[in-house]
Amino acid sequence: MYESIFKKYTPERENLIYILHEIQDNHPQQYISEEAINAVGKYLRIAPSHIFGVLTFYTMFSTKPRGKHIIRLCESPPCFLKGSDKIIAKLREILNVRVGETTIDNLFTLEICACLGVCGNAPVMMINEDVYGDLTEDKVEAIINKLKGEEK
Ligand code: FES
Repeated sequence: MYESIFKKYTPERENLIYILHEIQDNHPQQYISEEAINAVGKYLRIAPSHIFGVLTFYTMFSTKPRGKHIIRLCESPPCFLKGSDKIIAKLREILNVRVGETTIDNLFTLEICACLGVCGNAPVMMINEDVYGDLTEDKVEAIINKLKGEEK
């Protein structure tokens, strides 16, 4: 199942992050399963516990199934000072999830992250690869509704 990815990389430890990224990006639920961890461990001859440690160290990886749209809200100081706490509260309310959880319909996963590098537009969030800045509670609601509408 992972052979097509392994084929692209020599079995060396320095390829671990690249392989993990590719496995996660190719999984419809954008996560790395225990089965994948074991397969990578076997291929690179690395203990699964070490791989798990890497996965939990980097916030861009997930060991839990996630939704189609991954929301990452920045909570670094410039965004916090511009009200990211209100934005996270709004997202929690409209999605009915806590941080780290996925909506029942598997459409959205809510995460927080550190600076996204666009502090001039604080508060900022990313949804998958798209960046949204100058957020307000109304703007966030409109973005989520638009994404939900695209699913119908
Ligand atoms: S602090 Fe939020 S984008 Fe930089």
